[in-house]
Amino acid sequence: MTDAERQADSIRDRRVQYETAGLDRSDLMADPITQWQHWYAQAEEAGCVEPNAMVVSTVDADGMPDSRYLLARGVSERGLVFYTNHESVKGIQLARSPRLSALFTWLQLHRQMRIRGTASLISDEESDAYFATRPRSSQIGAWASPQSQVLADRDELDERVAGFEARFAGIDSIPRPPNWGGWRIEPTEAEVWQGRPSRLHDRFRYREVDDGWVIERLAP
Ligand SMILES: Cc1cc2nc3c(=O)[nH]c(=O)nc-3n(C[C@H](O)[C@H](O)[C@H](O)COP(=O)(O)O)c2cc1C
Repeated sequence: MTDAERQADSIRDRRVQYETAGLDRSDLMADPITQWQHWYAQAEEAGCVEPNAMVVSTVDADGMPDSRYLLARGVSERGLVFYTNHESVKGIQLARSPRLSALFTWLQLHRQMRIRGTASLISDEESDAYFATRPRSSQIGAWASPQSQVLADRDELDERVAGFEARFAGIDSIPRPPNWGGWRIEPTEAEVWQGRPSRLHDRFRYREVDDGWVIERLAP
């Protein structure tokens, strides 16, 4: 048997039983953001790696989905905020079609949370305030990286970094690049999933209605 065949068998036969207490309707918070805050706190407490990491999916001009990890950097009753380059592939896709999904997985807790909604740019003041909290090297990185564009080689990036280090030498507070800032994800739908034994998992969906949220149990 080749290594590739052994790996194919191992993927097919890998089975983890999700021995968790499960999820009841009465365990759920009234809205998706409060529920996210509750689960995020538990993920942090459980020592989940990068508990604020989410897979954000957008669509291109042809409706082709595109996914990548991003870090949630802010949360309020209005939604979850992430930061990125507005001229990146995702930035261009969002400017064209601000509908997106965000997926959190906290595998140690056998949990996932799906969020669907719309993205809107946060204010310049909010983006400035967050940018000011970033380490200086990350601030330089935001200026130096033409995110998602083709580079000739690593030297090109290193030279750009050196160029911006020189430009900002002696300047204490580096300003935010005009092409970098935050987007807020405002959920219109969400789903919480808790793994249970024998694949009979617990799922609940939040659906936005005029005066709040309807929560329904879904078949696993
Ligand atoms: C765990 C993790 C967290 C990330 N967080 C961010 C982030 O907060 N903002 C960002 O622009 N890219 C982040 N990235 C990089 C993105 O996944 C992606 O490579 C980059 O944003 C370019 O995506 P695009 O070409 O689709 O625009 C992260 C990657 C990983 C693996």
